[in-house]
Amino acid sequence: MCGIFGIVYKQDRLLGPTLIDAGLRLSYRGYDSVGIATILENGVIDLRKDAGKVKSVAEKYNFKEMIGQRAILQLRWATFGEPSLVNSQPHLDSEGLMVGAHNGNVVNNVELREEFISEGMTVRSMNDGESCVHAVERFTKKGFSMLEAIQKAYDVLKGDYAFVITKANDDKLYAFKKGSGLVAGIGDDFTCVSSDLPSILPLTRNVVFMNDGEIIELSADHYKIFSVSDGTPIERAVEIVEDTMEAAQKGGFEHFMLKEIHEQPKVAKELIHLMNNSSAVEVTIEALINARNIFFIGCGTSYNACVTGSVYFNRISGRTTIPVAATQFIAQYNRSIGPEDVGIFVSQSGETKDVLNAVEIAKQKGMKVYSLVNVVGSTLTKLSERWLPLACGYEISVPATKTFTNQLVAFLYLAYKMAKFDISDLEKIPGYMQSTIDDTKDQVLDVLPYLENWNDLYSLGYGVTFPIALEGALKLKEITYAHCEGMLSTEFKHGPLAAVTLDYPILFTTIEEDISLIISGINEVTCRGARAIVIGPEDNRLKSNAQHTITISQPTPEIASILSIVPLQLLSYYMSIQRGFDPDFPRNLSKTLTVD
Ligand code: AGP
Repeated sequence: MCGIFGIVYKQDRLLGPTLIDAGLRLSYRGYDSVGIATILENGVIDLRKDAGKVKSVAEKYNFKEMIGQRAILQLRWATFGEPSLVNSQPHLDSEGLMVGAHNGNVVNNVELREEFISEGMTVRSMNDGESCVHAVERFTKKGFSMLEAIQKAYDVLKGDYAFVITKANDDKLYAFKKGSGLVAGIGDDFTCVSSDLPSILPLTRNVVFMNDGEIIELSADHYKIFSVSDGTPIERAVEIVEDTMEAAQKGGFEHFMLKEIHEQPKVAKELIHLMNNSSAVEVTIEALINARNIFFIGCGTSYNACVTGSVYFNRISGRTTIPVAATQFIAQYNRSIGPEDVGIFVSQSGETKDVLNAVEIAKQKGMKVYSLVNVVGSTLTKLSERWLPLACGYEISVPATKTFTNQLVAFLYLAYKMAKFDISDLEKIPGYMQSTIDDTKDQVLDVLPYLENWNDLYSLGYGVTFPIALEGALKLKEITYAHCEGMLSTEFKHGPLAAVTLDYPILFTTIEEDISLIISGINEVTCRGARAIVIGPEDNRLKSNAQHTITISQPTPEIASILSIVPLQLLSYYMSIQRGFDPDFPRNLSKTLTVD
């Protein structure tokens, strides 16, 4: 997830150290490139940027000596275009008279780039942030003011984003918000704006929060807010922020994990927008249709997503796919794969060694390597013929949450496309996800006391909820340190049933169509004294057979399965807190496993 920062003073002054500090404070979001543009009183734009971390790029380009009356800083988390100097932000307009940077995704940037080129503009990069600058340039060239041009650019730029922009011969900055974060800071002799509070708080605690659809015009000594739809001025008072820096980074949540759980609706929406506009989707579908065998390959949570994806492909598109853990892929299929086969390698980090080892074998055998990956520019994206970004931004917490749900959304989207289904159903996922987060929290907290003293439990599912139960068990193990075995509910009677004692907690996850089967599973354990906790539809049969129920909407069976992981994530989180652990950084674990 990119970060932006802009600042306006009355006159030229040394800005470099302030901008480096703002960059470092934005860096917790994750990024691969950094850039600064300062604009001097005489209208000269000094633009320095490159792929790399703040410290190294700052040193290479001597950021600390940069002066100006205004400045824009951007930290880029690649989605469109590889991390590189040219794709780094900020971007100039055709003549180098305007400069801007964005945060978020402009999903129609590929088409826009062609339009801008055909209109005679100079487009230098593959990055969607550049579209924001040219969309404004298109209208300033026609004589519109900056404010009017931004209003008109809004109709052109599709997606969720915020951007900050300025002209060389001006003394103001302009910023616009649609879907991505934006907050302004009001100092004694300056104003500033950023995607994130942490870059503002060391400068001022007086802030103005922006809403979607609003433009802010910033001068050194005042700010004005306008509605993007009709340019009407909006009155908004300054607020004083008391948060600590750490609290600000966590967006008001206690932990990054909880913040990332709450980000799931937003990143799902962004991913669906992106996939709607991605040429890589068509190419991937074409390859899958023509494949002899299709493998879905990953580790840990990403493997659980592969199993879920495989169930989706069977249910939606009637196509057999083989989900396999990356290391087992080598052991089990190394001799039988070939150029007729396609592998979709799934990884949040794109750096997991077990996954990269499997890619190496696949490539040796001539198999087609595609991927679903969150970190663009990672080794996996470089080794893949085509990759689709998961578009989750940086996931700080070691337990994967938003990357898992977006892996499921991506698989479901591909299955729908393969079946030529109307994907409008999927656009409802973010809304359902938000109500699931809102509605299940209290239900999860009600169950918590019954789990307090247990260090051994089961998480069972069937069909489309089987891999959800696996992922729920993984989350629980990872951050509560309790043993939780995830398995097929129908397999429980074939051995594990022997473990059941009085009050033994067993989690069941089900969808509407499997209720009868799950009820017999519930009764097998409750008649032996177990405590059944069911995550499933609102249903009287579930309520009368289980000790606890956590209710999930059932828009479609597959979407219900995606929603079902939310209470399991929340349950793991609150159990971890109850036990006094830090869910963000569980013992013995690392976010990226670069060892065999
Ligand atoms: C998930 O909560 C874990 N942190 C872990 O299982 C992880 O999914 C696994 O190590 C794979 O990582 P990747 O997606 O970055 O390849």
